[in-house]
Amino acid sequence: MVESELISKGVMKMASVMKPLATKPGLTTEDDITAEVLRRFEGTEDPRLRQIMSSLVRHLHAFVKDVQLTETEWFQAIEFLTETGHMCSDKRQEFILLSDTLGVSMVVDLINHRKPEGATESTVLGPFHREGSSDMPFGGNIAPLDKEGTPTFVMGRVLDVEGRPIANALLDVWQTGSNGLYDSQDPELQELHMRGKFRTGADGRFLIQTVRPVHYQIPSDGPVGRMLRATNRHAWRPAHIHFVIAADGYETVTTHIFDSTDPYLESDTVFAVKDSLICTFQRCDTKDDATGEAATSLPVDPPFYTTRFDFVLKSVGR
Ligand code: BEZ
Ligand code: FE
Repeated sequence: MVESELISKGVMKMASVMKPLATKPGLTTEDDITAEVLRRFEGTEDPRLRQIMSSLVRHLHAFVKDVQLTETEWFQAIEFLTETGHMCSDKRQEFILLSDTLGVSMVVDLINHRKPEGATESTVLGPFHREGSSDMPFGGNIAPLDKEGTPTFVMGRVLDVEGRPIANALLDVWQTGSNGLYDSQDPELQELHMRGKFRTGADGRFLIQTVRPVHYQIPSDGPVGRMLRATNRHAWRPAHIHFVIAADGYETVTTHIFDSTDPYLESDTVFAVKDSLICTFQRCDTKDDATGEAATSLPVDPPFYTTRFDFVLKSVGR
């Protein structure tokens, strides 16, 4: 039965079939929709949340309009994000990996950790930091189970920006084994390995025994790996050692040191390399090749590598 018949039989009233008057502007164009979405967020009480939500909507809508996103692409994006969520567990954070490989983590890091001239620059924490690593003595070995890697001594001082030593600074250190795996990725390892906590002495010095770091690929068996392959990017990170350095009265710095000879320094898949963090690993074929404290205190036979790095911390509120 058509509308006019329903009305004549009194089943429907005239008013109920009248189309609403266009008294309010309809959401006709893409820009109308953007404006209306922005308007709905205007009542957000928290000013920071209001700023973030409206900027997010503006940029997201601009992106969709810019690329003229198709429905198929929109659905692929939904599936990609869903899979990214499914890949996350207490051992794996695929969203952080996505943020890292899109360079977002490093932009956030830079915005939030501006340093005065001479202070050690920060870089990403990465997903492989673990709580609970052991306290180590000066010269302690974080790689006791790694028989394949070349022994390496990392030495240096923790200083303030005026060059004064900082005593009792805590260095939380971790890296992969010479097989390129973190302990949590290595099926052979049930325990914490390749990590430890060191304290500086009164002279600000530290000495760490490890094995030479190697370049390795970030986990690539999930959606992030697929994104890298689809865009002709590689998954390699240049050889590095991670540090979080903390001392009372100073801002904690999360950083790495990188091996100056690594072929991936210029194409780190997570954009974390800074020139100031690149170190030379010196090969010592005899003990006489080692310099400074290395010459006197190294407990292993050559060949081994030594590298030096002084970390410089910014005082709180400076
Ligand atoms: C890492 O260096 O451990 C790391 C950093 C970002 C993504 C994946 C791994
Ligand atoms: Fe790493």
